[in-house]
Amino acid sequence: MSQARRLRLGVNIDHVATIRNARGGRHPDPLRAARIAAAAGADGITAHLREDRRHISDHDIERLAREIDLPLNLEMAATEEMLAIALRHRPHAACLVPERREERTTEGGLDAAGGHDHLAPIVDRLAAAGIRVSLFIAPDPAQLAAAKRLRAPVVELHTGAYCEAFLDAANGAATLAELERLRAGAREAARLGLECHAGHGLTFDCVGRIAALPEVVELNIGHFLIGEAIFGGLDSTVRRMRATMDQARSQALGSRSA
Ligand code: PXP
Repeated sequence: MSQARRLRLGVNIDHVATIRNARGGRHPDPLRAARIAAAAGADGITAHLREDRRHISDHDIERLAREIDLPLNLEMAATEEMLAIALRHRPHAACLVPERREERTTEGGLDAAGGHDHLAPIVDRLAAAGIRVSLFIAPDPAQLAAAKRLRAPVVELHTGAYCEAFLDAANGAATLAELERLRAGAREAARLGLECHAGHGLTFDCVGRIAALPEVVELNIGHFLIGEAIFGGLDSTVRRMRATMDQARSQALGSRSA
């Protein structure tokens, strides 16, 4: 597949750190996971430095920024503390995410519309430092319009609701409705000139229909890959995800040009 049509895979390594932190110490090392993911076909490494440091640590970010060859996508809350860290390490990209301490994972999208005044200076300062800013939002026209107003070049559409619906009842009405929202969101992002990424909750089974959306250029996947790696190893898990995404993308492109 040509590079232009190739869907990028960002491997999120947060939960390697979750396992390490269960015991303290250094094993398993997220940096080692990043290197294995790179060799297996990842196009980027994603890590979320949470305010409570429950998985990735400041030291992990420092090492990832310094030592890996792939672009680093730092997921971060829109706070002064995280902004200072991003400006210090200058990752390739920063994805602004909502963060609540009590949540187990990033449950909803960022309120780019309601949070404009708070977000605008953070987006501007990241952009001024040459960091590509993305906003993690629901596939909602108001949020997409707000991302455009904020001058963020990239949006990442939250696929969590789609993945949950898929798990509940594959091919059910809710799955199709969520897929339709994502399809419309991806189209609207492209119409607004925003680069469109997607992620959250993706697995081998549900990634295909997201990979088939032609406007989506990057998927960020973490929890499933790291969990599945326990059984199949990280190298083969990333390779299989890569192949599953590529196959779905090729089929979608083929059926459109046929
Ligand atoms: N994208 C963003 C912005 C996220 O916050 C997360 C979760 O950290 C992911 C993608 C990956 O989600 P998952 O770990 O469920 O694959």
